[in-house]
Amino acid sequence: MSRVVGSELIEDARQRGRVVFEILPGDIITDVARETAARIGIRLVDGPLERPAPVKTDGTTAMRRLMYKRSARWVAPRRGAILPARRFSKLALVGAGGVGGNIAHLAAMADMADEIALIDIAPGLAAATALDLNHATGITGARARCLGGEDLSQVSGADVVVVTAGRARSPGMTRADLIGVNARVIQTAAEAIRTQAPQAIVIVVTNPLDEMTTEMLRATGFPRERVLGMAGTLDSSRFRNALAMAAGVTPADVQAITLGSHGEEMAPIPSLARIKGAPLEKFLSPERIAACVQDAVTGGGQVVALKKMGSATIAPAHASVELLDHIRGARSGPVPVSVRLDGEYGIEGVVLGVPAHLGASGLVEVEELRLTEEERDALRRAADAIKARLAS
Ligand code: 2OP
Repeated sequence: MSRVVGSELIEDARQRGRVVFEILPGDIITDVARETAARIGIRLVDGPLERPAPVKTDGTTAMRRLMYKRSARWVAPRRGAILPARRFSKLALVGAGGVGGNIAHLAAMADMADEIALIDIAPGLAAATALDLNHATGITGARARCLGGEDLSQVSGADVVVVTAGRARSPGMTRADLIGVNARVIQTAAEAIRTQAPQAIVIVVTNPLDEMTTEMLRATGFPRERVLGMAGTLDSSRFRNALAMAAGVTPADVQAITLGSHGEEMAPIPSLARIKGAPLEKFLSPERIAACVQDAVTGGGQVVALKKMGSATIAPAHASVELLDHIRGARSGPVPVSVRLDGEYGIEGVVLGVPAHLGASGLVEVEELRLTEEERDALRRAADAIKARLAS
C-alpha cells in the first residue's frame, strides 16, 4: 500500500531515534517532508532495506541471557538529567592543554566550582586559557573565576585535582610507551597535591592511565577512595558511539560499558550492552559487534593517527566531567572508573576500570557486575598485563 509521507512521519521517526527513513516503492514524499528530513538530519533511503536474519537462540544461550540479564546501568547522561549538586570551592587542573582546557570550559559552563585553577609548565598557556575563559563570562555569565599559571602550588586547597599533564602519544606509539616519561610528571604533581591539597580527590587522565593512577596512589599515599583514573567513561562512550552508528540509532539508545585497562587490554562488555533495551544480537551480527569492540579499543589511536601531533581532547574532557558530576552529586548510579581493586572481581592491588559509585569523598563502592567467563578472563588478563608493565 502506498503512503503519502509528510513531515509528521519524518519528525516521528526522529523522535523514535531513527537516523534513516525508508521510502518504499509507491510512496509519495511531499516537498515539506524532504525539507524536514534535510533540516533534522534524517536520511531518506530507497527501500525495502535488507533486514538482518533473525538470530536463532538455542536453549542454553536463552538460559544464560536470562541469568545475565542485568544490564550495564551506566547510560549516557541525557540533557536535563542533572541533579541538584554541590559546587566545588576549587577545582584544579594540572595540565592546561587540549583536555585540561576543555575540562575548564565545560566545568565553568556547568557552574561546578567557585574557582578553577589551571596549571601548565608551558609558559603562558594556563594563564592565557584562564584569561580567555574569564573573557567569555560577559556572554556566558559563568560564575567561576579562572586563574592560570605555571606553579604547581596553585593546587592549594583544591577539593578535586584533575591531572592531564604529560606527553601524549604520537602515531605508532602505544600508551604504554609513555610510562617512563609520564611517571616523572605524575611524581611531581603528586608531591604538590600531597602537600598543598592533602584532602583532594585526584582524577588521573595522563597515560598510560592505569599505571599512572597506580603511581599517583603510591606517590601521594592517599587512600584508594581519593585516587581515581578516567578512562571507562571515555572508552564506554566510544563503544556506544560505534554500536549506535552500526545499528543506525542514536547513542542515547545504547547502553554499553567497557572495563579493564585503558589500552590494548580494554574489555568492552557486549553481553551487558543493550540497544533500545534489547541485546546487541537483535540488531547486529557477531562480526559487526566484534568490529564495534575493536572500534572502541582503537578509538584513541584513530584520533592520534589523524592528528599526527597529540591525542583526543574533546571526548576525554567530557568523560572527565562525567566523573566530576558523579563526585559532586549531579549524577547518580554506577560509572566506569579506574580504581585499585581490593579483591573485587577476584583481583587484588591492581588499578583497573570497573563500574563504581562515587560521592563527595570519592569512591563509595565498586559494583560487581555478573560477567561471562570470557569477560572475567579479559579483566584478569588486563590486570596481569598492568602488573607486568609496572614490574618491568
Ligand atoms: C584517548 O584514548 C587520550 O588516552 C586518551 O584518547
